[in-house]
Amino acid sequence: MSLRQASATRIAVLASGTGSNLQAILDAVRNGSLKAIPALVLSDVSNAKALDRARAAGVRTAVVAPRDYEGRAAWTEALSCVLQEAGIDLVVLAGFMRIVGARLIEDFCGRMLNIHPSLLPAYRGLDTYRKVLAAGDAWHGTSVHFVTEELDAGPVIAQARIAIRDREDECALRQRVQAAEHWLYPLVIGWYAAGRLDMREAAVWLDGKRLDQPLVFPESGPG
Ligand code: GAR
Repeated sequence: MSLRQASATRIAVLASGTGSNLQAILDAVRNGSLKAIPALVLSDVSNAKALDRARAAGVRTAVVAPRDYEGRAAWTEALSCVLQEAGIDLVVLAGFMRIVGARLIEDFCGRMLNIHPSLLPAYRGLDTYRKVLAAGDAWHGTSVHFVTEELDAGPVIAQARIAIRDREDECALRQRVQAAEHWLYPLVIGWYAAGRLDMREAAVWLDGKRLDQPLVFPESGPG
């Protein structure tokens, strides 16, 4: 048993919007498939639906709105303080649509995950569905990665790959990608919580082995 596993991992989920990934994480905790403590749900917007989902599950919430701070550095410092005061072990970005400052990434280096709707390194940034369809690609998907300073560029842990259907539109593709996110993210968070997953030497380590490529799963899940 690793030291990290000796006490249950306290996670904070940061979300700006609907929070369907947050819901999947809360459901996985509730049904026992994810052994972690959802200690905090934090948003940058006070009316995020994610906050309602957290309250309904009895999880503590916080809002740290950028407009209440002078600049990104001050806002980021406030975020970091809230997370540290809550004794958070792992920060989980789940549709958190703000770029956080370097301070938070340093404070939680190797302890911050993000989910991004593309097969990274393809299509970093916004509008991945529009871009992948416009490019006529055969595949899209989602990636869970460690967060580093460069946007959507940290080491990728795992991906779900989705074959784009003939004449599929953005809405249909988003639904399929998000359905995959809902099993992929709890799975990866569970690896971290079990002490199996680390970031070292700017690489992903799983079960003591360095991953040279992300683990790639089909749309239907790990099976
Ligand atoms: C998710 O699909 C996630 O991949 C994406 O936002 C969505 C949030 O949905 N994240 C990004 O685009 C980050 N670059 P949710 O609020 O229903 O979980």
